[in-house]
Formats: sequence, C-alpha cells, structure tokens
Amino acid sequence: RPIAAAALGATLLTGCQQANQSLFIGDMSSAYNREIWWMSVWAIVLSIIIFVGVSYALFYTVQKFREDRHDAPPAQFHGNNRLEVILVAVPVVIVFGLSILTVRSMAILNPTPEQATKIDVLGKQFWWNFAYPETTSDAGGVVTNGNEFIMPTKQPVALTITSGDVIHGFWAPNIGGQRAAMPAVKKTWQVDTERAGVYQGNCSQLCGGSHANMRYKVIALDQDRYDATLAAMKAYRAPEPAPGSAEARGYALFMQGKASTAAVACAACHRVQGTPAAGVAGPDLSFFGTRRTLGAGMWEAMSAAQWTDEKAAAELHAWIKHSPTVKPGSLMPSYDGSEYLSKGQKLKGGVLTDDEIDDIAAYLRSLKLPEEADYWRETP
Ligand code: CUA
Repeated sequence: RPIAAAALGATLLTGCQQANQSLFIGDMSSAYNREIWWMSVWAIVLSIIIFVGVSYALFYTVQKFREDRHDAPPAQFHGNNRLEVILVAVPVVIVFGLSILTVRSMAILNPTPEQATKIDVLGKQFWWNFAYPETTSDAGGVVTNGNEFIMPTKQPVALTITSGDVIHGFWAPNIGGQRAAMPAVKKTWQVDTERAGVYQGNCSQLCGGSHANMRYKVIALDQDRYDATLAAMKAYRAPEPAPGSAEARGYALFMQGKASTAAVACAACHRVQGTPAAGVAGPDLSFFGTRRTLGAGMWEAMSAAQWTDEKAAAELHAWIKHSPTVKPGSLMPSYDGSEYLSKGQKLKGGVLTDDEIDDIAAYLRSLKLPEEADYWRETP
C-alpha cells in the first residue's frame, strides 16, 4: 500500500512541486489532511473489495451459465426472498460502514478547542481580508491584513469564514479542506499544519469574472515567531511621512483624494492601521510594504526589496491607475478617467497624474512592519 501511495503521489505531485495542492495525497503535515487521507484509504479499500467481489460474481455467472454449456434452458423461477434480502442488506452494511468512518472523522475534526487561535476570514469579489479578533491594535481596531495571513504551527486554528457578497470558497489545501464562505453566515473551520512555510490559498467557488484572481497566502510560523509577529502587528502604527516627501504627497492623496478631478480618496475603501483611513470596502493595506502579492495573488513574489524594482513598480502603478482593466470585475475606481463597471453600473473614475500615482505607490511601499517582524523572512 505505501508503494502504491508513493507512486500515485509522485504522479500527482509532478505538476506542483512548490505547493502541494493535490486533492488525493494532501500535505501530511496537517492533522486535518491526515485524517481525511486515512478516511479515503478505507473508502478506497472497501471499494476495491466490492469491485473485486462484484466482478467475480459477474464472470462466474457468465462462465457457469453460458448457453453452450447447457442442452436445455436452466430452471425458470420467479422471486427469491433470501437473495433479495441479501441484496438490500449488503449495500446497507456498506453504506453504514462508510457513514461510521465519515462521522468518526467529523467528530475528530469538527469541535474546535476553546484555546485555538481565532482568525476571521472575509471573502469578497475578488479579495480576502483576515482579522485577528482577539488582537486589538494599539492604534485601535482589530488587527487585520488583506490577502495574506499568518497562523501558528502545531495547533488547531479556528477560522470563522464568511462572505461580503456572493458565495466564495476558502481553500488552502496544505492546511486543510475547503469551506464555503457564505454571505450572512459565519462558519467555523479548523485548519492546522506542523510545518512552518508559505502556502497557497484559493477561492474554490466560481464567484465571478476574477474568481481565478482571488488567491491568498498562508504564512505558517512557529509559535515564537508567530507571537512576535502578531505583537509587532498589534503595535504597528503607520509611519508619519516626512514633510515634502513623495510619501507625504501620497499620504495626502490617499486620505483626501483630489476633489478637483473627482479622484476618490483611497481611505474611503481601505484601512491603514494608525491613520484615519478606516475603509472596509477594500482590503486592509496596513502592512502593504511587507506584502508580496498584489491584486489578490495576480502578481506574486514581490519581495520587500523588489517593491522598488521596475517591474513591481510598474505593476503597482498600473494597478492604481486602472485596476478594473487589469483585473476584470475589480471594484476599485479607475484613476485614468476611464469608465468602469461596478455592480452593473457604469461609473467614471477620477483622474490622477502619473506622478501622483507614483506618490501614492511610494506611500504604500512605506507601510512596512519592522524588519524583524517581516513574516516572509526566512520563508522558502
Ligand atoms: Cu471568490 Cu471564486
């Protein structure tokens, strides 16, 4: 069995060396995945036994009752109570057995220990927000982050999953199974991993034009680093930009927009911890400079150093300038004056010059956790 499992695993893994997102052989560093794997193994073993039994009965019957083996037609009869009882009883026993396996796994996986780390997950078209309900920031409000979240290793983590609009699906295969994110419904979902690392998360429910661009990163940290990082996030206050700097100009545009060209303030929709920006219509940008993805995973691997790279800078610029044309269905206003569609309504975004956009980008890049609390540090 282990050899067969290894062979199957190797085949399934060839396409995804970096992030094992296999449906069948999940990441075994998660207790959740191990439980599901063994449940599947028993279900498969049972299926094989049934398959072999049914195949044998079929071939035996065909062979034994072949026409050329009999001179006269076989005895004709109607109804066989004993056979019928067996034909009903056997499937009932099988289904009952599978139910016991399933109920057993559910009983193991469902109750979430009281002391589990709690993280609130909010899915929206087309991004995610993650909040630590038990951690209030020194600047006020719960600590949150957009499209990336940290979790501790070696313990169950209780996610409370919901949606702000349509049905989405939370699914980070390395840390556990998937769960629907439904509007007006909060569901608790337990995940875990024993191995520190960065894992890919996806939206697993077709939810609109940018369903495929609704990804997130799970950064699993060992307890000490998790505690230190969360403490740094709690203590974080966005730095005050130096007067006259690009960051200061970006800050002003971010907070107030530009009335003369009808450019909406970023702060109307985004939150930045420690500033008056407290919008909730878009992802939290408090630690934007630390994040390594943009547009909910559209662009990845922007290391902190790479934010200043030409390519990353160009992507960020393009994003701010006309996000709806970069990402279909994005509800962020366009700042190049073009029309965009929001919830079926044609809206016209305001206008910012390229220099003004670069100022906002400079401000966003400055929103960084202290070096030692950079949760991407030392991750593969
Ligand atoms: Cu959200 Cu698919």
